[in-house]
Amino acid sequence: MEMQEALQWADRLIFDTKGKHLDSLQRAILEGVWEGKDYKDISEEHHRSKDHVRKSASELWKLLSEVLGEDVKKKNMRSLIENEVFSYNNDGVHIGNQINFCSELDNNTEGNKKRSPFTNKESQLHHDLSQAPETIRFYDRIDELATLKQWILTENSRVIAITGLSGIGKTALARQLVEDIKDNFDRVLWLTHRKFPTLNALQSHIIKSLSPPRPSQNSSIISHLNSRSFLLDYLRNQRCLIILDDFQETLNLGELVGNYCPEYQNYSQLIEEFGRFSHQSCLLLLGWEQPLEITTLEAENIYCKTLKLSGLGESANQLLQTRNLKDRQQWSKLIELYNGNPLWLNIIATAILDLFDGSVQKFLSYPTLYLGDIEPILKQHYQRLSKSEKILIQWLSTQDKPVDIGQKPPNLLSDSDYFKAIQSLKKRNFLEQSPALTLQVAIKQYVKNLSLEQ
Ligand SMILES: Nc1ncnc2c1ncn2[C@@H]1O[C@H](COP(=O)(O)OP(=O)(O)OP(=O)(O)O)[C@@H](O)[C@H]1O
Ligand SMILES: [Mg+2]
Repeated sequence: MEMQEALQWADRLIFDTKGKHLDSLQRAILEGVWEGKDYKDISEEHHRSKDHVRKSASELWKLLSEVLGEDVKKKNMRSLIENEVFSYNNDGVHIGNQINFCSELDNNTEGNKKRSPFTNKESQLHHDLSQAPETIRFYDRIDELATLKQWILTENSRVIAITGLSGIGKTALARQLVEDIKDNFDRVLWLTHRKFPTLNALQSHIIKSLSPPRPSQNSSIISHLNSRSFLLDYLRNQRCLIILDDFQETLNLGELVGNYCPEYQNYSQLIEEFGRFSHQSCLLLLGWEQPLEITTLEAENIYCKTLKLSGLGESANQLLQTRNLKDRQQWSKLIELYNGNPLWLNIIATAILDLFDGSVQKFLSYPTLYLGDIEPILKQHYQRLSKSEKILIQWLSTQDKPVDIGQKPPNLLSDSDYFKAIQSLKKRNFLEQSPALTLQVAIKQYVKNLSLEQ
């Protein structure tokens, strides 16, 4: 390996991680030591005192130790650098590419909201949708897509949560959105939360996925970096769109909404930093519930938004049509009962075909709302509720009409627990307040079924 190549590599690595280039004496020390010279030779050649060179060298080894995650000394510096570079080249990466990439990256600090200049070459675009589902035959959502595009592309929102009950179409909507807007981003990364258990693992994965292979990606180096600040650098330098699907997996069961499981507590910092720090990227969270930080950020910060996804409405007719159901005039009723939820409607369509030869009219003639295979889905939602939410929802399910917020029976819950439970259930998309409190029909039926079982 050529000394100049090593020098450039080390300079770039230190710049990437510390934001500073090597100074002239540090370069001279690296060059000299690489060629087997001692500090005396270097000091004479560069007209510095030997003590000064020794001190500067000691600082340099310390700096290199930090960024390489190895104990770098005068005698092992050359072999360590050669090993590091060798391991990258073995991965099929050429030093020249790394340096070119970084130089272009460094020039990209304008913070504009278009794709960064260095990725104008298509070959350098990096859209990792390997964990995303395939695009489907997609109905409607025209307004939602327009709103999301406005928030992301025009208003440069940094954190967006799409929330809604299971099956409502969060993943499908986000997938369509990504298809429509991905070319506005240097990097697109779709992650299904379940696969990244801890924040550290998630951050390392994001960094690795967002950046082309480069010196600072070595795991030994990453472990010595503050991955969060490293990640923020990426978000500033490149325009990234990161989608975290199934975000509810980070939140705890049995408590009011928005409390993280102990092992995911620090996800809250990730959201805070995405929202509060200046950068040109966007984090899209898809989940059943609205994370607490988003509520606060949304209240004070125009860069955060929540889209509560409701049902498909009339366009669900198209979905029912593909299922060859009968009695078209009754479809609107069916859509209303199952809240336009495409997954639920598909499940019920299967039941109607199984039990009633596709006749929606016969199915609806039964007075009790049939849940069938929707029940296990609702069970998963119900199990997440806190005790006070369960008490409230059980009471609401016995009410024939929407309930005014002031109608609470005195012994149900304390006022404070009552209001907290209402807010929490609203964030879980269980309860609507328009202006009276209304439970979705299917949820109401599920809770009624539960009390019959007991
Ligand atoms: N706009 C749409 N047009 C057609 N089909 C849709 C639409 N939205 C959702 N679907 C279908 O409904 C089903 C559920 O959608 P999706 O997986 O997006 O729900 P989800 O809200 O992400 O659910 P979960 O919270 O369980 O992940 C999928 O089979 C999907 O293909
Ligand atoms: Mg989903």
